[in-house]
Amino acid sequence: MINILILPGDGIGPEIMKQAVKIIKTCIYLGYKINILYNYIGGISLDKNRQPLTENTIKICLNSDAIILGCVGGYKWNNSPLKPELGLLMLRKKLNLFANIRPIKCPFKNIDFLIIRELNGGIYYGKPKGISKQLINNVPTWYSYDTEIYNEQEIIRIVKLSFNLSLNRKKKITSIDKSNVLISSKLWRKIVNYISNFYQNIKVNHLYIDYATIELIKNYNNFDVVITSNIFGDIISDQCSLLTGSLGMLPSVSINNKSTCLFEPCHGSAPDIAGKNIANPIGILLSLVMLFEYLLNNKILSNKLFYSIYKILSFGFCTIDMKNFFKFKKIISTEEFGDLVNYYFLYD
Ligand code: IPM
Ligand code: MN
Repeated sequence: MINILILPGDGIGPEIMKQAVKIIKTCIYLGYKINILYNYIGGISLDKNRQPLTENTIKICLNSDAIILGCVGGYKWNNSPLKPELGLLMLRKKLNLFANIRPIKCPFKNIDFLIIRELNGGIYYGKPKGISKQLINNVPTWYSYDTEIYNEQEIIRIVKLSFNLSLNRKKKITSIDKSNVLISSKLWRKIVNYISNFYQNIKVNHLYIDYATIELIKNYNNFDVVITSNIFGDIISDQCSLLTGSLGMLPSVSINNKSTCLFEPCHGSAPDIAGKNIANPIGILLSLVMLFEYLLNNKILSNKLFYSIYKILSFGFCTIDMKNFFKFKKIISTEEFGDLVNYYFLYD
């Protein structure tokens, strides 16, 4: 029996999650032994439990084989002292999910590379971090700070994992940093070069983040495995989502080498369109593709779901966010997209 914990979260989370659950229920119908559990994270957890992630939910997470998360955040909690996003950051940290794999893949355009984002360190978690009032030029002035910080062990584990993943791909790694300015990036680059000595058959190159944003769009075929820090990975993955269609299409898995992994789309909670049945469910459906592949080790199931999604797109159906991409013509709702994918997943 496989225990999958569903954390729909906020905004469009519940409506896209519903589409993923349809597919999981189809798997159960087909005989797969999957147990579905539900819980809260983010703003909805703040509303219900006054915390963005409770100890009890963390316990349930640790006891699950996989977690599927929708998204967190929204205007509603703009003035809340605890932010919904904190729930997600806590979850990543508590489960030691240090590597976030974001495939940039589009069969229509022959695009296929991975962004591997460090997920447990850097400026997201670095201390000191804070805000206070100080006298600057004799004027009381707000003063705020975050710290980009990486230790050797944190860099080594993500770099090693990336090299190992690269062995099953094109054996080509691009590391992205800002080592012309940041000392933390200098250490990052040094460690990538050091680890590369143990992988003589893998080609390694380095790019500065500013120039990388251009290369990723212009020469995306030159990339196979991209490794980078937490904040740079956050930014370039949103950027690269446009290569594949829209931000709504990117899936991800966060892993820690041993236990529970977390599957989630890369997009946010899009509160402006929440509840309208127009959100793109592809990010979460492709995250389920990754679950079938990484957790169940079931290539047949993952291929089946992947091609069901692309079949619907190849018919010209899409959600509204993609209306200007490819030759999509027929705009359909979140529910309709989910139903069509589920139909082909089951019958094709
Ligand atoms: C992401 C999101 C999160 C992040 C937010 C919601 C905390 O943007 O997963 O990319 O910054 O990591
Ligand atoms: Mn992001």
